[in-house]
Amino acid sequence: MKATDLLMREHKYIIRALNVIQQMASNVEHGKALDDRDVEDIIRFLRLFADEHHQGKEEAVLFPAMLKASDPGHLATLRWMTFEHDQERSLVEGLEDALRTKKGKDFVYFAERLNHILRTHIHKEDHILSSSWPAHVCRPVRMSASRASWRTSIATSTKKS
Ligand SMILES: [Fe+2]
Ligand SMILES: [Fe+2]
Repeated sequence: MKATDLLMREHKYIIRALNVIQQMASNVEHGKALDDRDVEDIIRFLRLFADEHHQGKEEAVLFPAMLKASDPGHLATLRWMTFEHDQERSLVEGLEDALRTKKGKDFVYFAERLNHILRTHIHKEDHILSSSWPAHVCRPVRMSASRASWRTSIATSTKKS
């Protein structure tokens, strides 16, 4: 299996979690109580799988490889994708706060924003990943780089441009 196929498969797992959160928000809107442990589980999944594992690989390996394989004009797109990762992380924090403070309206707000932003983000990434890339972008690789080095490199290139 190509590395890019693996990332697209992981998107499907993340979409399933979004379906669960969407249903939770709908339940809150209809006056049903949430099971705190279910919400904690889904937040843990978003933090550990969707962010640390999945988006961590994108930033440490995929985005740098894509930038290397394409023209520098793609930097703006990849920078935007990284910005969306930050937005998603903030929205997950919002969900966590809403759970802690028992504010149902906030939970619905953050759940809806996260659903919209993350589904759109995944749709864009699937489109990018399914287009043809040189073999070295698609090949499974060991993670040798780090997410921090990608973030440093785009911050540095921002200053230069
Ligand atoms: Fe992403
Ligand atoms: Fe992704």
